[in-house]
Amino acid sequence: MSKQNVYDNDAFFDQFRNSRSREVNFNDCIETPILFSMLPDLRGKKILDIGCGMGQHAKQYSEMGADSVLGIDISEKMLAYAKEHHSAENIVYRRMAMENIDTIRDAFDLITSSLVFDYAEDFEGLMKKIHSIMKTDAKLVFSMSHPIVTAWDGAYDRYTRTETGERLYANLRNYCREGLRKVNWVVNGYECYHRTVSTLINAMIRAGFVIEQCEEARISDDMRKQYPALFGGTIHRPEFIFFRCGKSDCLNH
Ligand SMILES: C[S@@+](CC[C@H](N)C(=O)[O-])C[C@H]1O[C@@H](n2cnc3c(N)ncnc32)[C@H](O)[C@@H]1O
Repeated sequence: MSKQNVYDNDAFFDQFRNSRSREVNFNDCIETPILFSMLPDLRGKKILDIGCGMGQHAKQYSEMGADSVLGIDISEKMLAYAKEHHSAENIVYRRMAMENIDTIRDAFDLITSSLVFDYAEDFEGLMKKIHSIMKTDAKLVFSMSHPIVTAWDGAYDRYTRTETGERLYANLRNYCREGLRKVNWVVNGYECYHRTVSTLINAMIRAGFVIEQCEEARISDDMRKQYPALFGGTIHRPEFIFFRCGKSDCLNH
């Protein structure tokens, strides 16, 4: 199983840290508000954040009353930043690939993940491993790039534009061809995995989950007008998809 660790590449890490640190960015303006609106009450909860990155969410969970937060990530650089900037007594950051979470000998009330599962080669296998370390009434809440976005294979422009560069519509090709996408984005050969919406949903069901809520990223007209370069395209397609799941009573029905 391939385990890309692109966030330890200097250029990629710097680009991510800089864009994530800007006051107006995709994570804080679009992703986090939707994900947080789907969370249960965190007070007293034992939480695992998969692909915790620089630790922003782990720190917020701690401040929202979580009993403990374990943040795991494959990138040393991301974890070093998290430990330096987003530490708390009840947060532990650990270097671990999400593919190995079944080695965690613990069970959680809540498992979250923001924009990480695009990197999982075996999404259904990952869902099964997550399911195995959740308490009976636990929840899984996660976001990932929307399949409309991951369908891109780098061979065509993401948007058709007017002569002045205004985005007319988003281009979509090879949506039904699933698998690895290797594109040049910040670094050459950036890798993520494209899956259709039905593949995601059926993998969750087969892993033993009930989908309680699904959201697609939306952004207000005001924000789009105010920041056209950053958010102008969000009228054409949702950047992210979100799911909240509980455990179903019977597996593999
Ligand atoms: C887009 S960043 C998101 C970080 C954080 N969740 C946030 O919302 O700011 C993706 C993160 O996933 C991590 N990641 C990628 N592949 C991974 C893997 N196989 N196992 C664990 N973490 C991984 C990266 O190192 C990076 O920190």
